[in-house]
Amino acid sequence: MIRKNARTHIYRVETENTLYALRAVRGERVEHIYYGRKVRNALISPYPHNYGFSPNDKDKTASLSHDIIPAELPGYGAGDYRAEAIRIIDKNGAAATDFRFVKARIYQGKPLSAAMPHARADEAVETLELTLKDRFSGIFAFVSYSAYPEADTIVRSVRYENRTRKSVRLTNTASLCVDFPAGKEFELINLPGTYYFERHIERAPLRQGNYVMTSHRGATGHQMNPYFALVSPDADEKAGECYAFNLIYSGAYTNTVELTPYRALRVLSGLGDHHFSWLLEKGESFETPEATMCYSAKGIGDMRRKTHRFVKNYILKPRKSTRAPIVLNTWEGTWFDVNEKLILDYARAASQNGIEMLVMDDGWFGARVSDKAGLGDWFVNPARFPEGLASTVKKVKDMGLAFGIWIEPEMVNPDSELYRNHPEYALAVPTADPSLSRDQLVLDMGNPEVVAYLKETLGKTLGGVGIDYFKWDFNRHLSDVYSSILPPERQAEAAHRFMLGTYELLAWLRETFPDAMLETCSGGGGRYDLGMMYYGEQIWTSDNTDPAWRVDIQCASLMGYPAPTMSCHVANRENICEGKPRTLRFRYAVAAAGPLGYEFNLSECSEELCASVRAQIEEYKSYAHLPESGNYYELASPYEGRTYAYYYASPNGDELLLTALQAKGDAIPLTFSIEAACEDLTYTDLLSGKEYDGKTLKKGICVCPDGMDEWSLMIHLRAKK
Ligand code: GLA
Repeated sequence: MIRKNARTHIYRVETENTLYALRAVRGERVEHIYYGRKVRNALISPYPHNYGFSPNDKDKTASLSHDIIPAELPGYGAGDYRAEAIRIIDKNGAAATDFRFVKARIYQGKPLSAAMPHARADEAVETLELTLKDRFSGIFAFVSYSAYPEADTIVRSVRYENRTRKSVRLTNTASLCVDFPAGKEFELINLPGTYYFERHIERAPLRQGNYVMTSHRGATGHQMNPYFALVSPDADEKAGECYAFNLIYSGAYTNTVELTPYRALRVLSGLGDHHFSWLLEKGESFETPEATMCYSAKGIGDMRRKTHRFVKNYILKPRKSTRAPIVLNTWEGTWFDVNEKLILDYARAASQNGIEMLVMDDGWFGARVSDKAGLGDWFVNPARFPEGLASTVKKVKDMGLAFGIWIEPEMVNPDSELYRNHPEYALAVPTADPSLSRDQLVLDMGNPEVVAYLKETLGKTLGGVGIDYFKWDFNRHLSDVYSSILPPERQAEAAHRFMLGTYELLAWLRETFPDAMLETCSGGGGRYDLGMMYYGEQIWTSDNTDPAWRVDIQCASLMGYPAPTMSCHVANRENICEGKPRTLRFRYAVAAAGPLGYEFNLSECSEELCASVRAQIEEYKSYAHLPESGNYYELASPYEGRTYAYYYASPNGDELLLTALQAKGDAIPLTFSIEAACEDLTYTDLLSGKEYDGKTLKKGICVCPDGMDEWSLMIHLRAKK
């Protein structure tokens, strides 16, 4: 619910358990009042003070330094020295920016961008839209706060409109700004990483200064996921104050937390200013990506579940089926060597062993026999598929399988027909050769001709073939960012225009292939973000399929994203980690955390191994609905000890799937208390036949690892009728 108090000018944006309050008086800056647990009276301006070396408005609020006023849309260069949420460079070169309140409106629904991914809305969603005007440049800003009551989440975005007669330049545009007053101590949780070890959890206290989490890569990247949280120092799974933030965007971004000299905290999230600025001509408008914020007073576990609920209900593309199909993917078993015979061998073995979909990975098109050539040439390789793709797909389908295919549309190899004909389609600065990464260049997706070429070739080659699933990859980051179609004064728009072009192509793919599902990927989980989740049902979590590493990656991924997004495969190799091969059971127990797949050539496997795979698939099908739509509870973190343990619970607690994993074993007994169990129910473990009563589960069940090098336990509890 969103309400205005006409006397105090306070606007209250409420969700079921949270309140976000601001004060907006005509002609003045919009002041942030409060964000946190729902309270009746939010405090107004908690610490009026005039600091030395801090400008103020003499006539109005002389007791308040600009530097300390909690602000909703802080500008630049007009007395607030903290990091800004917007900087406008005027035609005359001035950069001072200071937005003042004009009016507000409250409405049901929310802005739904036509060009960018966004949170979907239902009838419960309401929006507060503030209209502000910059007293220097005359540019208007429309700041939207949309409340998602049952997910305790607020989505924020800003649209700038140039109603003047001149052009201005926007830079450092944040989507979200939250100022916390002094007196609240926080620790920061975030998800940094590297390629092959994306998203691991770090938690640290804040120090005075700015901590900037950013990607200049033209993609969110493996190196710093855009999700982060601020939690009270005492916060744990079950208690403590927690705020989670994220951006619904897949490109370069900047998230900043600034602890000021006066111990106030500013949080910003948005496009930032790494080679980003946008020329706003008269009559034009510019929309920022959306940013999300979620609050829980009940600890990290509750914050996580709320975040998951929000992503599942309002971001992710809804699935057409109750769970993802179980796939067999050719990559780790075959690398680039796909051809009709191999695909049919794979398919035969897949259909005999319970697999539901065959996914043909890289290597089926152009001259793509290694990563050195072919990207951009979206034509079936006739030497590998002499009768054409449709014929192979039909044969696969005749065996009762669905068919998926790998594509990487945003890229081009210099050794390709596309590049030979259109070198100007690649991002490259005209004065020097561009840098290669995995022997490929990045296409200028901001060029409408490039997007049209991709629509045409992908449409022609894959249309009518019967594709049920796309794996959309992105195997390098942007460099040499320069677009052959933009004038010099717009070159700093190229990376954002790249994302807009990619989003256009993603939307086109979904419309053109309405029955196919989409798994996005970027060298594993290099674009594991809400932008990609808006278009696809799931994401390839990591190229690292070693379960010992996956445990950490998956636990961290679940911090900000729900299990249905997290595509997990039992891998080809025995995942030699620290010199020890991993058993099939352990690999499976780790992979069963999300949408399941396999990555080895089953046609070459022993009957014994195939029988184990068949049994795993049957087992998985009996509980796959729990990771898909249950609530996630963490029992033991691999970041704190040797065990990773968690369970998924059905919404009413009558079904539970508990998993405990230890890559390095020891035999210390563990007690798990299952808070989502119902006290008055009796449960049966469908895997072992053992019975448990709800009271005992709630109090805690004791399990003991067997002390071997790796250990996994799965318990699938269903309440007796
Ligand atoms: C990336 C993906 C892999 C595979 C290869 C193909 O690395 O993450 O799963 O698809 O590309 O080239």
